[in-house]
Amino acid sequence: MIIKTIKNNINSILKKEFYKNNITKKDIEFCLLESIQKNRSFLLTHDDYALTYKEQNKFDDFIYKLSQGMPLAYVLGNQYFYKYKYIVDQNVLIPRNETEILIPKILDYGDKIYKKKKRLTLIDLGAGSGCIGLSVAKERKNWEIILTEKYAGALKILKRNYDNFKLNNCHIILSDWLKAFNTNMADIIVSNPPYISRKSDFVENSVKNFEPITALYSKNMGFYDIEKIILGSRRVLKKDGLLFLENGYNQSNRVIRYLQENSYEDINTILDYNNINRFTLSRNTKNG
Ligand SMILES: C[S@@+](CC[C@H](N)C(=O)[O-])C[C@H]1O[C@@H](n2cnc3c(N)ncnc32)[C@H](O)[C@@H]1O
Repeated sequence: MIIKTIKNNINSILKKEFYKNNITKKDIEFCLLESIQKNRSFLLTHDDYALTYKEQNKFDDFIYKLSQGMPLAYVLGNQYFYKYKYIVDQNVLIPRNETEILIPKILDYGDKIYKKKKRLTLIDLGAGSGCIGLSVAKERKNWEIILTEKYAGALKILKRNYDNFKLNNCHIILSDWLKAFNTNMADIIVSNPPYISRKSDFVENSVKNFEPITALYSKNMGFYDIEKIILGSRRVLKKDGLLFLENGYNQSNRVIRYLQENSYEDINTILDYNNINRFTLSRNTKNG
């Protein structure tokens, strides 16, 4: 193995033709930062720093994985979401920028409920890395947050993030959607469920090849899990409790119809950064 300086590492990779499709200069910089565990200003001011044997080894491994098309977050083992850094591996979906849009909305609506009731219980269904529920828990320490997962691999990462966050307003539960929950117990339910149709042609290779299928695909043209959650939430939400759902780019109308058929009211959609109706917010009008 050849030990190189920061500058040499960057230049030699950028020169190699076969890396061009998968690796950008920014990716290389992130890999260097993670390998040498220094901040960005070090990288810019010390480009003649020679990596140690261990650092070079780690860096070469990162670059190999990137060259195979692995997303940067899995290569580095972490991803920023909202204001926080989350551990990720291939058992959990990489938290998406778009999903961050939900956080301030949840905080705003939740503050109104908390002001009236002086307490609030929120369930994050299908928590994965925990990016939604733990970010909310961090922002609102007096709310009770319950995070659920069905899959043991995802649950392991969720617990590691939970431990890092050092919170005492959260519970983590292994549950198939809402099966483990009592009636009328939540003020807010939020979920970014699997919603991609198995027949979809629009799934990028990096997603298809590396992200967990249990986090991506849903039967019934992508609606199976969303509809299950809408039905289950009717039972578990308190009367006037709120349901926040993320949905696919072309699913909004059917989600709205299904919510209306199940007695939800005040249905609103929230746009993502591409002006797509990506989130649906609604109020449960039924008691149990
Ligand atoms: C699209 S990912 C979302 C993960 C995370 N909430 C986020 O926004 O990045 C869907 C999550 O739901 C979980 N899941 C799938 N089926 C489930 C089920 N029946 N019950 C509970 N969780 C489930 C998956 O393991 C996955 O972590």
